[in-house]
Amino acid sequence: MNETGPQPTTERPLRLGVLGAGTIATASYGVLPNLGPIRHKVELVAIADPEVERARSVAAQYGIPVVLPHLDDLLEVDELDAVLNLTPIPVHGETCIKILEAGKHLATEKPLATTMEDADRICDLARARGLTVVCAPPNTLYPDRAEARRLVREGVIGKVAFARVRSSHGGPASGNWPLDPTWFYQKGSGPLFDMGVYGIQEITGILGPAQRVVAFSGITEPVRTVRGGPFRGKEIEVTADDNVLMMLDFGGSTYAVVDGTFNVNAAKSPKIELFGREGTINVASSGGLEIFRLDAVPGLRGWVAPSLSEVEDKVQWTSRLARAILVDHLADCVMGHAAPVLNAEHARHQLEIMLKAEESARKGKVLDLTTTFSLPDETALA
Ligand SMILES: NC(=O)c1ccc[n+]([C@@H]2O[C@H](COP(=O)([O-])OP(=O)(O)OC[C@H]3O[C@@H](n4cnc5c(N)ncnc54)[C@H](O)[C@@H]3O)[C@@H](O)[C@H]2O)c1
Repeated sequence: MNETGPQPTTERPLRLGVLGAGTIATASYGVLPNLGPIRHKVELVAIADPEVERARSVAAQYGIPVVLPHLDDLLEVDELDAVLNLTPIPVHGETCIKILEAGKHLATEKPLATTMEDADRICDLARARGLTVVCAPPNTLYPDRAEARRLVREGVIGKVAFARVRSSHGGPASGNWPLDPTWFYQKGSGPLFDMGVYGIQEITGILGPAQRVVAFSGITEPVRTVRGGPFRGKEIEVTADDNVLMMLDFGGSTYAVVDGTFNVNAAKSPKIELFGREGTINVASSGGLEIFRLDAVPGLRGWVAPSLSEVEDKVQWTSRLARAILVDHLADCVMGHAAPVLNAEHARHQLEIMLKAEESARKGKVLDLTTTFSLPDETALA
């Protein structure tokens, strides 16, 4: 049965409950400090976190009227349209399912879940109940990624042979992390889910669904010492692989290499490099495109750095909203002004790649991928 989820109107903002009052909720680049420009679209009605004191102080800072300890309590709040899930990775699956079962739209941090069963259930629930799901990371929404996708589809660099995608950082224990970063290094989390997901989303967002994956995966050091912040000096036992390298096969001899590690303390390479038969596209770390073409000008090869001025408003908007872009995208989709670019099927494909990367490394085998997705501006990417 295809029901329709809660429908706020343009006169009534999306009534949002926040689940999780930790780092991504409150960091300068996180959600709550960056909601200012879209406060007319969203009303924060409640926040829930088992660390109730933390939730209380966050609620006081951001004017959220109701503080609750559990998701179950949050889902009881009157006229709640949607929940923003900012919980740690291991509980994403169970919490996302509960939110959808309660008939609420969902924006969630990445990854969508940690098992395919949960990801399938999330996709099924959303479809059956007419609910919108938006899943981080937001990268595929960024105008330079959208332009890279368009240029590839229009054949500007010819057939793509391979891509290199840099996805990782040094890990939360490598800097001044504000809370205890232990869970990032332990089973159920790890850099594949935490960081690899960015590069996987970006390259599949540009090239379309991947067909096969093969990976190496291991633990670099069994104990990590936190280098800064309030937990500086804490020794973390590393139980999740912290060093994963994946290769994706898109069919037709088009490949990509993506990292998911906590070992990139510094890098100067582009974020994404796409090597085609007629040229190269670089997506720079700081955003923006550089394009090499064999016929950059008649008879001569060379690099061009195209202006993104045509989409400058979007560049400014995504940059201004930081992680609050998830809420903006959810509100636009629920109100019918946009279709989900960060959609559940794409997030499920990203998860399948990650789970099969782990399995591939364990078994020493190339594994086929079975899930697929499409993005709203095209019927099929493949
Ligand atoms: N921290 C970052 O810089 C960052 C950046 C991008 C994305 N993310 C993503 O954000 C999510 C959360 O990460 P974080 O760094 O904010 O973690 P965190 O540990 O700082 O905060 C998580 C919060 O969730 C609460 N929580 C735990 N279980 C809960 C439950 N069942 N119901 C409600 N609240 C619960 C915790 O008490 C804590 O307050 C993860 O998916 C992570 O991948 C984090």
